[in-house]
Amino acid sequence: MKRIKIIDVLKSQDFGQSVNVKGWVRTKRGSKAVNFIALNDGSTIKNVQIVADVEKFDAELLKQITTGACLSVVGTLVQSQGAGQTSEIQATEIQVLGLCDAEYPMQKKGQTFEYMRQHAHMRLRTNTFGAVMRIRHNMAIAIHKFFHDHGFFYFHTPIITASDCEGAGEMFQVTTKNLYDLKMDEEGKIDYSDDFFGKMTSLTVSGQLEGELGATALGAIYTFGPTFRAENSNTPRHLAEFWMIEPEVAFNDINDNMDLAEEFIKYCVQWALDNCQDDLEFLNKMIDKTLLERLHFVVEHDFVRLKYTEGIRILEEAVEKGHKFEFPVSWGMDLASEHERYLVEQHFKKPVILTDYPKEIKAFYMKQNDDGKTVRAMDVLFPQIGEIIGGSEREDSYEKLMARVEELDIPMKDMWWYLDTRRFGTCPHSGFGLGFERLILFVTGMQNIRDVIPFPRTPKTAEF
Ligand code: 4AD
Ligand code: MG
Repeated sequence: MKRIKIIDVLKSQDFGQSVNVKGWVRTKRGSKAVNFIALNDGSTIKNVQIVADVEKFDAELLKQITTGACLSVVGTLVQSQGAGQTSEIQATEIQVLGLCDAEYPMQKKGQTFEYMRQHAHMRLRTNTFGAVMRIRHNMAIAIHKFFHDHGFFYFHTPIITASDCEGAGEMFQVTTKNLYDLKMDEEGKIDYSDDFFGKMTSLTVSGQLEGELGATALGAIYTFGPTFRAENSNTPRHLAEFWMIEPEVAFNDINDNMDLAEEFIKYCVQWALDNCQDDLEFLNKMIDKTLLERLHFVVEHDFVRLKYTEGIRILEEAVEKGHKFEFPVSWGMDLASEHERYLVEQHFKKPVILTDYPKEIKAFYMKQNDDGKTVRAMDVLFPQIGEIIGGSEREDSYEKLMARVEELDIPMKDMWWYLDTRRFGTCPHSGFGLGFERLILFVTGMQNIRDVIPFPRTPKTAEF
């Protein structure tokens, strides 16, 4: 008999038909006469209730049905008597596919997230992680659909690179050499000439620079891939390995870029509201009671658009009125998460797109404004999250970009190919990067970024 997924069984009104379901036991309860088994196969947050009359089954077999065990059940689909469910399965055959011993770490309900992180290999079997992973999948589909429908091409940029896009020096190096075999040159730098690539290579921190090559040929591209940052930040918002979506569009200026970012993120949130109702309702009940309200709010309201200088003025006024920030506020500083969240959660009570940051705190490739001090950067700041998107209009003048490269001492040997885009038919263009896990944090209401990726990589943790 062909297995039916639990999500489809629960939708079926075909009472009386015989069905086969397979899944893992969530709970078992019962009396002397009958056992009720809640079975889940991951296709939905919902369990199907299996009703097993004790007299019809071997006592040994029923004993083997413990939380976590894997079963195949054949039975008749019947209308449920119990509250909160419409159908259940009256079992005729039960086969234990996999026993589960008492050490199963997800045995008890209501474990802390910290406990579950320590048992990350099994946490996917819980309701919360099932919901988060299904939403994560849905967001990936929404992202591809949005860009495909808008005429963007999915563009694959390299994972192993020889350039540092963000210039923050936070790259993981890639080498085939045993560390002891690496030689130094005269300047005391590691000599990679006889290494695999013959030069220093790293895992990418962003696909943007190569994405710009794509956009200035194909018009509009987006990347969607893993990125790596060796920043030593042990925060609930940072991972060493995270996924980023980076659209890049020829002929877009900073305003087009803001329009795109706002439309894109609203589309993703609306997609979740339309396609992940059961999981969102579960999370709204169990994790964060204001989640659904927040998601609706974001799709229904315009984002605030504000210049950095204006943002600093608002923060300074807050300080004058007695608001206490951990880090002092002054023009030129990079905003800390507390500043971003003040603007979004307390001042405007809306998502904010902050633009025109001081050039010193932003990357070399951003277009310089005429004031000589600021660049056409844009960060999208979200409630609960802080920065969810970072982007900019790009410097399209060869001379200005070259001057900046020299000013920052960026080695030409790494950048010549990038500068060529400005020599050969340069054009205005813009793009941004959305941190995929930060989007998932927002959409699920989860508090820690380690809990929205199946296998998190953070300082001192690389399990599996
Ligand atoms: O602001 P960032 O560093 O921008 C770039 O990498 C640009 N090259 C993007 C572009 O213009 N194409 O990173 C973009 C986003 C951030 O806003 C944040 O959401 C996410 O990536 N991000 C991280 N997410 C998780 N863990 C980290 N360590 C992250 N660092 C950045
Ligand atoms: Mg940023």
